[in-house]
Amino acid sequence: CGIVAYVGHREACPLVLKGLKRLEYRGYDSAGVALMNGNHLEVYKKKGKVVALEQELAGKELHSTIGMGHTRWATHGEPNDINAHPHYSFHRKLAIIHNGIIENYAAIKQALLKKGHTFTSETDTEVLGQFIEDIWENNGGSLEEAVRLALQEVVGAYAIVIMNETDPTQLIAARKGSPLAIGVGENEFFLASDATPIVEYTKDVIYLNDYEVAVIKNGVLTVVTLDNATTTPYVHKVELELEAIEKGGFDHFMLKEIFEQPRSIGDSMRGRVKADEGTLQLGGLSDYMDKLAKSKRIVIIGCGTSWHAGLVAEYIFEELARIPVEVEYASEFRYRNPIIKEGDIVIAISQSGETADTLAAIELAKSKGALIFGVCNVVGSSIARATHAGAFTHAGPEIGVASTKAFTAQVTVLTLIALAAAKRKGTISDSLFRQLLVELESIPAKVEKVLQAADKIKEIAYIFTYARNFIYLGRGLNFPVALEGALKLKEISYIHAEGYPAAEMKHGPIALIDEDMPVVVIATKDNSYEKVVSNIQEVKARKGRVIAITTEGDTYLPGIVDFTIEIPKVHDILMPLVSVVPLQLLAYDIAVMRGRNVDQPRNLAKSVTVE
Ligand code: G6P
Repeated sequence: CGIVAYVGHREACPLVLKGLKRLEYRGYDSAGVALMNGNHLEVYKKKGKVVALEQELAGKELHSTIGMGHTRWATHGEPNDINAHPHYSFHRKLAIIHNGIIENYAAIKQALLKKGHTFTSETDTEVLGQFIEDIWENNGGSLEEAVRLALQEVVGAYAIVIMNETDPTQLIAARKGSPLAIGVGENEFFLASDATPIVEYTKDVIYLNDYEVAVIKNGVLTVVTLDNATTTPYVHKVELELEAIEKGGFDHFMLKEIFEQPRSIGDSMRGRVKADEGTLQLGGLSDYMDKLAKSKRIVIIGCGTSWHAGLVAEYIFEELARIPVEVEYASEFRYRNPIIKEGDIVIAISQSGETADTLAAIELAKSKGALIFGVCNVVGSSIARATHAGAFTHAGPEIGVASTKAFTAQVTVLTLIALAAAKRKGTISDSLFRQLLVELESIPAKVEKVLQAADKIKEIAYIFTYARNFIYLGRGLNFPVALEGALKLKEISYIHAEGYPAAEMKHGPIALIDEDMPVVVIATKDNSYEKVVSNIQEVKARKGRVIAITTEGDTYLPGIVDFTIEIPKVHDILMPLVSVVPLQLLAYDIAVMRGRNVDQPRNLAKSVTVE
């Protein structure tokens, strides 16, 4: 979910709505705002996207210099007008917006029901709002105190903002587990789930820590812990530029982000790789290089696309640094009793740096004494702060829900880490080390070349627009790319797609193949080329329709498959950085042709801050 709030001298309503649009990638099944009409707290909410709410508000005279808004990704209760936030408390003295999950809401609700409270929505948020008001009314202290007391009882994750009628100029916010940034302007404050709605007004941003409560009153911000100890917040200078979060002439953020990859891959290497000098430096990890080189095992955790980047990294670490690697979904890792031994290193991968399962997995690994590295895209994010060390991906803000440039940046950075470990360990020859640095520097130009094939890919997409299923096959490093290609397609086009190791196809998916089944095969010239060609023959023998990703100059495959998309020759180790790009474009084109909302596919969210 996305949270925005404002207090200052500007009109709050348009500002909050604009902020919500910037945060819509976090969830978009319903939206709402709360504003002050004199001393009267008014709430407006609507199922659907922020535009639906905007239409609802059009023509209303809403003048308020304080306000808050929310865009929702449903957890408790279906997306509808009632379950949308903000929620009033029982006596309507306050309204609350919330991102996260209150795990013990049912018990709190029971207690409130016994006291005669009634609820209008099915949400955990309404329960929290009523709970806070109940404490406020019964213990006679301030609202701020009631918030602290209530949150001490709460199990779960939250970022909340509260407005109230008793002090109509006050905003109270708190966080545990879900992010909350506070922009500090001249006599004005901006609160949001991340800095994107804030940067056009101020670059001075405070990230609230877990168990902190912020109170903004009469132009003054105070931050206290749940135990009422005052803290001195650190004001970050945010570097984000406005154009980085706008579409810049592209139809969708996703397309813009696909086309940004030559630059973003370059940015993730900038200052780190110097091929002419044969050096590689990772500032954030330099103190830990010995530990990395000596580590007995690496455990990589992540979710979604980040998990796929981890699978690519597994091959690279094992090949170059000869360190055994396990890659696990964060959500699985955290619910077993994982074995972490001395000398193990955990690498957590996350674009947003906020994924709840990944964060919880980090905390678990930490409690078992693991050394944890982060590979994150968002500076200041919860995961970046929870890890001991790390390397940022520097891909710039990724807004399309389907991850593209973050994936290639993650793979780039993980490759650099593996190379640095291999170098320190002495498992890579000087010549291969140098060669890979040179090859890495050539990747942006090679990706650029793939992007030039966009029109051809569009033609292929057109032919398969109405396919009902897709299979993606690859071997070795291209197996995770097959998974990623399938994920891209299913996320944004809603076509069922499966990625498989090409050789495993004969143990199941081959039963699905007939003349209606498109099969995308990554068949680049690497050491498994011949084997992949055999797998293609197996598909063709069953009349499947093959779209092959081939290496430039391959004259054999065009003769046996239905369509080919050529990509430049790349060193085997770096192949995923280039071979994934045509799959991103293919998924994008098919989704657009099917009329899908590419940037905001149904049911998904960019940053999943619930478990
Ligand atoms: C969501 C997004 C995916 C992303 C995954 C992990 O499912 O839609 O694009 O790969 O979360 O997110 P993270 O921010 O941790 O990489």
